[in-house]
Amino acid sequence: MKEQIEQILAELGDLQTKTMKDVEDARVRFLGKKGEITKLFEEFRTVAPEMKKEFGKKLNELKQQAAARIEELKANAEQAAMDAAPKEDLTMPGEPYQLGSRHPVSIVRKEIVDIFRKFGYDVAEGPEIEDDYHVFEALNFAPNHPARDMQDTFFVSAGHPNPLLLRTHTSSVQVRTMEKQSLPIRVVCPGRVFRNEAISARAHCIFHQIEGLYVDENVTFADLKQAILLFAREMFGPETKIRMRPSYFPFTEPSAEVDVSCNICKGKGCNICKGTGWLEILGCGMVDPNVLEASGIDSKKYSGFAFGMGVERIAMLKWQVNDLRHYFENDLRFLKEFSTCVEV
Ligand code: PHE
Repeated sequence: MKEQIEQILAELGDLQTKTMKDVEDARVRFLGKKGEITKLFEEFRTVAPEMKKEFGKKLNELKQQAAARIEELKANAEQAAMDAAPKEDLTMPGEPYQLGSRHPVSIVRKEIVDIFRKFGYDVAEGPEIEDDYHVFEALNFAPNHPARDMQDTFFVSAGHPNPLLLRTHTSSVQVRTMEKQSLPIRVVCPGRVFRNEAISARAHCIFHQIEGLYVDENVTFADLKQAILLFAREMFGPETKIRMRPSYFPFTEPSAEVDVSCNICKGKGCNICKGTGWLEILGCGMVDPNVLEASGIDSKKYSGFAFGMGVERIAMLKWQVNDLRHYFENDLRFLKEFSTCVEV
C-alpha cells in the first residue's frame, strides 16, 4: 500500500491537464467513487491493526494533497481559458446609441395642429388618391378650370366621368367631413398633396398642407380674421400682425390671402421678406354657398370659413430655410439641425 500511495503522489505531481474537462477526468480518476484513492480507503479495512495508524495518516494526507492538486489544476485551466478568450476592455465607453429625431415638417405640422386643437378644432384625414368630385367638383371648380388640366394635376385614371387623381389640396377632406359630420364643424385637415410642378427652391410636386374649416350658424368674416390672427400670434409670436389681401378661390367668396409681419426684421424689410416687411402664409375665405349646398348643408342657415396653408412654407419661415428641396432630400446634415427641437 505504501508503494501505491507513493505512486499516486508521483502521478499527481506529473499530471498535465489543459482543459476543465481534463481536470474533471483526473478528479474522477483519483477521487471519484471508484477512483484510485477511494479504492485505497476500501483496502485500508484489511490492513493489520498495528499498521492502521501509520497508513490512516498517510491515506488522509494523500486525499488532501490530491484534492489540493486538483484545485490547483482547475485554477490553471480557468486562467488558460480566460487568456484564450478575446480581450475586452470593460472600461471602454459604450457604442454611441444613435437617436433618431422628428422631421422638421412633422415638427411644424404638429405645432400647427396643436394650436388649432387648443382652439377646439378636431383633426380629420382623408385619402391621398381622390376623385375629381371631392377635389374639384364639390368645391365649385368649373368643368374647364385649369387645375383640372393634366399639366397641373396627376391623374391616376383619366377619361372617366369622375377620374381618380392625386389630391392637389386637402380641401377634399373638408368636403368629406361636411358630407358625413353633423354641424357645427370645426376641423383641420393635415396631409400630403401633389401638384404637377417643376421642382425648384420654391415649388415641389409633393408637399404638405393644413387646411381648416369652420361651419356653424352666423360665422362671419370677422371670426375668420380673429382665428387667423390668434393662430399667427401663437405661431410667430405675440407681436405678430396680419394683413389680408383680396384673392380668388373657386370655393370661397370673398377670398383673401394672408400675410404676417416679418418676424425677422420686425416689419422693417429684409431679404427674407424681400424688403416688404410681410410674409405670405395662407389663403382663406368664406365658404361659397355652392360648396355648402353641394355637401347638403343649408346655406341660408349656415355659413363658414376655410383656410389653407403649406407646412413647408411655414417651416421655411420659422427656420429661415431658403430652399424647399431640403425638406425632401433627407440629408442627415440638414435633419440633424432639428434634432434638438423639443417635441413630444
Ligand atoms: N385649397 C387652397 C390651396 O390649396 C387653400 C385654401 C383653402 C384657400 C381654404 C382658401 C380656403 O391653395
